[in-house]
Amino acid sequence: MIELNHRPRRNRRSEAIRSMVTETRLHPENLITPFFLVDGKKIREEISSMPGVFRYSIDEAILEAKSCMQLGLRNFILFPAVAEKLKDKYATYSYDKNCFYLKAISKFKKEMPECTVITDVAMDPYSSDGHDGIYDNGVILNDETLEVLGKMAVAQAKAGADIIGPSDMMDGRVGYIREELDDAGYSDVSIMSYTAKYASCFYGPFRDALDSAPKHGNKLSYQMHPANRREALVEAEADEMEGADFLMVKPALAYLDIISDLRKNSSLPVVAYNVSGEYSMIKASARQGWINEQAAMIEVLTAIKRAGADIIITYFAQDFARYYHSKP
Ligand code: PBG
Repeated sequence: MIELNHRPRRNRRSEAIRSMVTETRLHPENLITPFFLVDGKKIREEISSMPGVFRYSIDEAILEAKSCMQLGLRNFILFPAVAEKLKDKYATYSYDKNCFYLKAISKFKKEMPECTVITDVAMDPYSSDGHDGIYDNGVILNDETLEVLGKMAVAQAKAGADIIGPSDMMDGRVGYIREELDDAGYSDVSIMSYTAKYASCFYGPFRDALDSAPKHGNKLSYQMHPANRREALVEAEADEMEGADFLMVKPALAYLDIISDLRKNSSLPVVAYNVSGEYSMIKASARQGWINEQAAMIEVLTAIKRAGADIIITYFAQDFARYYHSKP
């Protein structure tokens, strides 16, 4: 018999021991469920590049959200798919009092007061240019965009949002939005900042879902370059100083190092956005019979949490919660 001081396999000997030494556990409480919303009634359209994910009219979204609540999923992030004819250069529909997205926020809070509604603040769903900020001859105007974002955020807070989610990547937007919210009497409304949002190809299916792809150019002048790591800390420091309540990394899977860096460098909750392309890759290969979908989902979500994410936004939320509650 060879004498070994360390036999790490001893801690893997039985299911009970393996479970006892498990370092990372997933729970529906830490997940945020995204919803894509459209104006109208009784609409439930599956997004072709995101099997199992739908665009819902408000009535249908409420039914679906209530079934999420039953599964212990109480946190929702809402995205609007806006008709082309309502889009303009300055995204004015985003704070129009008839905007269906604002009505949806109110309806969620009215029907489910105990849920959390997280919004999206960026111009792209409402912009005729398909950019997150004001587009002017190939340039995205930073400071002019802040005014639009401020109006959007206040309108969402007024509609009843719990957490405002600026996803636009303009400089100074967290501080600007914080001030606008406070001035309007919404000092209790939080900000979940898309702190390190990378210019990623993994948003492709999401842009299909909202029909929000840029009409010209790309988002490289505001979203971060995938090659950069330290720059995420520059963004995190700014967001924290400007008053963010949550820091987000997006996408998640190709950016686990960034999640880990933010976790080490901040005491705020770190959120990871497991984005559309990350979801669709697993769905597509599972459909081909090339991968076990449930195992892949669990492994990926575990990896994101293990890297340091406290909270995960994922299109797998319902699949995961169903699995979680069916476990023996
Ligand atoms: C837009 C926004 C995007 C996503 C969330 N908010 C797309 C983009 O920046 O082009 C992507 C989410 C996903 O892919 O699941 N402000």
